[in-house]
Amino acid sequence: MLPKNGHVAEIGVFKGDYSGRILRNLKPQKMYLIDPWVNSDDPDQSTSLYGADSEHNMDSVYQSVLDRYSDEISTGQVEVIRAPSPGAMSDIADGSLDFVYIDGDHRYDAVLLDLEISMQKLRPGGYIALDDYMMTNWWKDGVVRALNVFLGAHSDQIMIDRCLQRQVLLRKRDDTTATATSGPVT
Ligand SMILES: C[S@@+](CC[C@H](N)C(=O)[O-])C[C@H]1O[C@@H](n2cnc3c(N)ncnc32)[C@H](O)[C@@H]1O
Repeated sequence: MLPKNGHVAEIGVFKGDYSGRILRNLKPQKMYLIDPWVNSDDPDQSTSLYGADSEHNMDSVYQSVLDRYSDEISTGQVEVIRAPSPGAMSDIADGSLDFVYIDGDHRYDAVLLDLEISMQKLRPGGYIALDDYMMTNWWKDGVVRALNVFLGAHSDQIMIDRCLQRQVLLRKRDDTTATATSGPVT
């Protein structure tokens, strides 16, 4: 149901496992893989995949992604941007993306910012999928609270399309969806 052959971005790539699923299933014309690939020294993130306690060296993980998608990078289908999402997304044209997958920094402020920036970069009718809408990990209520606040602020522009376990799919309204879904509260 997600748009095929479109322009998509993944915020938070790690080893590129989910990137592969998006590439296989959506066959995007263009896919931005966005991740700073740095080991964080923030104590709050020490148990994260990229925290101080992690076994993963993020320089090596970054190199493994370049190797894994070298064919797609050489054709220009995949563009790897090694930077935190706010800066990386600023180079992408507003209203140009069909789909953004958000799975980066799970802290409240960062998730809220990722949602706001993604909304700006999305075309009308485009989709955002947000991973890890749950509270039982190092990010505590960060993801849940950020989505709830975001939805409260943008209920006229975005709607929940569906939830599947801990993933939430949002759709940016266009004129058609706005007309189809709005109506009197009964
Ligand atoms: C849970 S992993 C992503 C997993 C990947 N989406 C998958 O399913 O295969 C989270 C990733 O977010 C990245 N990350 C952390 N802060 C970020 C930021 N500000 N912008 C983008 N990515 C970030 C981390 O480096 C890490 O690789």
